[in-house]
Amino acid sequence: MPRPQWHAPWKLMRVISGHLGWVRCVAFEPDNQWFVTGAGDRTLKLWDLASGELKITLTGHISPVRGVVVSDRHPYMFSVGEDKLVKCWDLECNKVIRHYHGHLSGVYCCSLHPTLDVLCTGGRDSSVRVWDIRTKNQIFCLSGHKDTVASLLTQGVDPQIISGSHDSTVKLWDLAAGKAYATLTHHKKGVRALALHPNKYLFASGSADNLKQWKCPEGVFMKNVDQTPYRAVVNCMAVNHDDVMVAGYDNGSIRFMDWKTGYNFHTEQTRVQPGSLEAEAGIFDCCFDKTGTRLITCEADKTIKVWKEDENATPETHPIEWKAVAPGTEKRW
Ligand SMILES: *[C@@H]1O[C@H](CO)[C@@H](O)[C@H](O)[C@H]1NC(C)=O
Repeated sequence: MPRPQWHAPWKLMRVISGHLGWVRCVAFEPDNQWFVTGAGDRTLKLWDLASGELKITLTGHISPVRGVVVSDRHPYMFSVGEDKLVKCWDLECNKVIRHYHGHLSGVYCCSLHPTLDVLCTGGRDSSVRVWDIRTKNQIFCLSGHKDTVASLLTQGVDPQIISGSHDSTVKLWDLAAGKAYATLTHHKKGVRALALHPNKYLFASGSADNLKQWKCPEGVFMKNVDQTPYRAVVNCMAVNHDDVMVAGYDNGSIRFMDWKTGYNFHTEQTRVQPGSLEAEAGIFDCCFDKTGTRLITCEADKTIKVWKEDENATPETHPIEWKAVAPGTEKRW
């Protein structure tokens, strides 16, 4: 392992309460003023990032909300849920203006294409569906996964759609042809988490067997990142511009890693809030704000937590525990 880049450890900055169920998903709006969360209480809540105050609660889903995304180009937000519903919200009047019909069971993830008016959704029916935002038409029903589609990414270059499934594969899709052009079979357990690197042409995938990094467009395997012997289920991953990679686990751990080396420079065990059972420590989703300096986690104790770098930390107070090893004698994982 080459010498890791030093990163400050991250610390808890704020705990936000308000949801009455597990908080399952989070997304930021383009101007970074507010973010939205979706939860087991069937609501979406919009929160002011600076103050942590609730702006509005939106109702309409009849089952837990599992995915949410805010458009960078239109005043729209999209949400998906276990009720099979895919909704388009108009953010000027905070009302649902469109539904996209087709999923046969719960919808667990969604992603908006950055340049086309296309929304992708995936869920328990093992399909990835591609929708025309305006006409509500289903452009493609992408089939091939053999189990729940749990995570989705979209980008403007190939692969324009990346999906991770409980069938333990990651598929790279050709959006023009409506077909998978690669299936990555390196994981041995379900893939619930995917994250694009914000400025490199790379992505990461997470499963209980490992965190892995891949090159676009072909999906060439780069490396395994997780070096812990015991591994919990990974529910979410995120990467910021400073090469900090975060993974959130079902057991309440949040691990911070240096992207380039995979070095785990900091781990947090989330503390459940009073009134919650100890067992209710679980991280369901995580997301950096648009600046990459705040991290939001969505948790099983019904809270939302805001994290930031510890500004008092230095390489002296938090040294990298790393030893150069002779080539060929590295520990293998
Ligand atoms: C939770 O899982 C992570 C990742 O596998 C591990 O590093 C951590 O020690 C676990 N924490 C607990 C409290 O078991």
